[in-house]
Amino acid sequence: MAAASTGSHLTFDYRNVMDSAVGEEHGLAEATLDGVADKIRSEHDRIVAERAAGEQRWMELPDNLTLADEIVDFAQQARGRYRDYLLIGIGGSSLGAIATIQALAHPFRNLLAEERRGGPRFFVLDNPDPEKVRATLDLVDLPNTLINVVTKSGQTAETMANFLVAREALTQAVGPERAATQIVATTDPQDGLLRQLADQDGYRTFPVPPGVDGRQTVLSAVGLLPAALCGVDVHGLLTGAAAMRERCLTAGADVRRNPAYLLAAIAVLADQRLGKSILVTMPYADALFGLADWFRQLWAESLGKRLGVGGEEVSAGQTPIKALGAIDQHSQIQLYTEGPNDKLLVLVGVEAYRERVAIADPPAGIPDLAYLRGAELGQLIGREREATAWALTQARRPNLTITMPTIDAAAMGEFFFLHQLQTVMAGALYGVNPFGQPGVEAGKNATYALMGREGYGDLRAELTTAPRDADRFLVRPL
Ligand code: PA5
Repeated sequence: MAAASTGSHLTFDYRNVMDSAVGEEHGLAEATLDGVADKIRSEHDRIVAERAAGEQRWMELPDNLTLADEIVDFAQQARGRYRDYLLIGIGGSSLGAIATIQALAHPFRNLLAEERRGGPRFFVLDNPDPEKVRATLDLVDLPNTLINVVTKSGQTAETMANFLVAREALTQAVGPERAATQIVATTDPQDGLLRQLADQDGYRTFPVPPGVDGRQTVLSAVGLLPAALCGVDVHGLLTGAAAMRERCLTAGADVRRNPAYLLAAIAVLADQRLGKSILVTMPYADALFGLADWFRQLWAESLGKRLGVGGEEVSAGQTPIKALGAIDQHSQIQLYTEGPNDKLLVLVGVEAYRERVAIADPPAGIPDLAYLRGAELGQLIGREREATAWALTQARRPNLTITMPTIDAAAMGEFFFLHQLQTVMAGALYGVNPFGQPGVEAGKNATYALMGREGYGDLRAELTTAPRDADRFLVRPL
């Protein structure tokens, strides 16, 4: 059954990417944008046909309400039982959960008293950084900690190593039998080393849906379970995603009405025709910085490809960067406004922040602060976004603004679906396959080889044979 759709509420203002706003050299002509209509139509038809044939499975995730219910039930019990929740996963196996919880939970959730927090404190082990891992394990209350290890492949070195460390610490604290009851594995339903371990030790498991890349799993158990444990409305996330899907599919191939295709077309055309090889996402809300981080991975890992769909060398992709408004107005914006004109900026605004903080009246003796009288912080940060869009446009820097009514689960769901469809269409426009990540796999394999994993002997030999002149380019401490 599909999530009930309440409609999509995001607004897209792209006037500042057009040549009428930033000039011919840096802006898109209407004819250029409309010039991709035929390509978008055929790619849209392909996506729809693939979906009907059981591919593009990420598009169905908003409909899995049975899983959502199961997750909510599990979370309800776990939230009463555990003081701490430790998520172990990396890349697509943690970024979506981090983005969701950062957006929708209290910003200092871990510091709140238990009654206000509603559920365990939330910690993440992604990097295998020994200092962070040790500090985290020292801090959590292991006998009262739920460990959720998340890996689609079931074998990623960072995740498995962090998990083995945490599992050992938990076993030391509570013994092996009880430890097994405090571990939940989110992984492939059948394959992988973690699946083997979960079956052997008897962990509760949730599935990573087959046929979906890690970075597309935020609306599966990968993202929903952590969200539910931290009190997020997971049905709201799915409802928002379904609403964006409906909006995009209703608009179909109409590039001016389908926001996912519009964003894809603008970004790819800006890169290929206007030399905007960098895409900056700049939300004006601390709560949305994680969303920009999640998108950064999606865009980079999906589109950064050496080979085109026909096997030809293309080295495609656009470098995604995240910035935070208004903070980066005092840092990066100098570069964006006056440095190389090689960027497309996407500002993300919020119409109504969840808090209203009035600015107290300035003292009468300081007339230059009088402009703040009667204002509130949400108004100030909103005006800063408008001012930045204006300043960028004056400097002929193409920029567009996405506005959400407020930060809630439905809006986050909308963004997740929007950006995924945008990325699939951008892959088509670049002529690359947005699925798979051969560049990431290359590094993973090299790590296995360097760590001595069986079956990687040849690669290890290649990697550890130093070139004869290796020392020529090494600068050692004096
Ligand atoms: O998007 C992807 O596929 C990757 O970023 C993976 O999520 C990441 O490498 C972690 O992989 P796994 O979930 O298999 O541990």
